Amino acid sequence: MSSPRKLTPQEEARLAQVRANFQERRRVSESLEGIGTRIGVYSGKGGVGKTTVATNLAVTLAAQGKDVALFDCDIDCPNVTRVLRITEGPIQNGEKLVPPSRFGVKVMSMAFFQDNEDEAIVWRGPMIHNAINQFLHSTEWGNPDYMIVDLPPGTSDAPLTVMQTLNLDGFVIVTTPHELAVLDAKRSINMIKKMNLKVFGVVENLSGGVFGTGGGQALAEDMGLPFLGALTMSADYTNSKKPASLESDAVGAEFTTITEALKVQIAAIKPT
Ligand SMILES: Nc1ncnc2c1ncn2[C@@H]1O[C@H](COP(=O)(O)OP(=O)(O)OP(=O)(O)O)[C@@H](O)[C@H]1O
Ligand SMILES: [Mg+2]
Repeated sequence: MSSPRKLTPQEEARLAQVRANFQERRRVSESLEGIGTRIGVYSGKGGVGKTTVATNLAVTLAAQGKDVALFDCDIDCPNVTRVLRITEGPIQNGEKLVPPSRFGVKVMSMAFFQDNEDEAIVWRGPMIHNAINQFLHSTEWGNPDYMIVDLPPGTSDAPLTVMQTLNLDGFVIVTTPHELAVLDAKRSINMIKKMNLKVFGVVENLSGGVFGTGGGQALAEDMGLPFLGALTMSADYTNSKKPASLESDAVGAEFTTITEALKVQIAAIKPT
């Protein structure tokens, strides 16, 4: 019998790469093991209220006594920390980073690693992938019931990479009632479906203002998805030191409706 052939340097390198990828995946999945449900908040269009929905969803669930993590994955414009007015970054504990907590929510954001808030970061797919993996396995998440992920908008490299890296259980799609936002939301839903990922449902934000009302519900019906609820355009989002859902009863009630509808969808895929 002939002895096994010696590997070429290219083959050795390839093998080392495969091993490294495998180990990295294992570390990430170990680090995420304790997390209950991972929910992405996403829209095709920018500025429709993803960060608003992600943050208020997180604090609403936390106020209900749930253990919640919020992961700001908007690489180009991370702004969860600004909305929650977090100034302190994570604390180093050995090799791990302990995320700061605000309104009962553990928050991790790319913003913690930006020197200057106005700095523009231009990331490419592999860099995003590496940065997110690094984040995921170096953060001490504990055992949250939910991880809410604020995603970057659109169908470009950045959100796609984030989606693939995070292995989310499902998505909440945010749209305004305006027909262009609805059209973009439709595109995003189709993209998620193409990746064989789940959409938990649609939220209509900025409802009842100049954009009218009903576009989100019509989109949900059109795509055969649950409609999770509507959020009225309100001044409560602009002037508070607290997230609007904690500041205003009316906004709080809208978010309670959305979280209850979301829990029903989660229970359907994760029976307890
Ligand atoms: N229902 C609402 N009523 C009033 N203002 C709102 C409402 N929802 C969001 N806003 C405001 O609209 C602006 C944009 O919202 P937000 O930052 O959540 O959007 P986004 O989709 O995360 O944007 P980006 O795509 O840039 O990440 C914010 O100033 C926010 O306070
Ligand atoms: Mg945002």
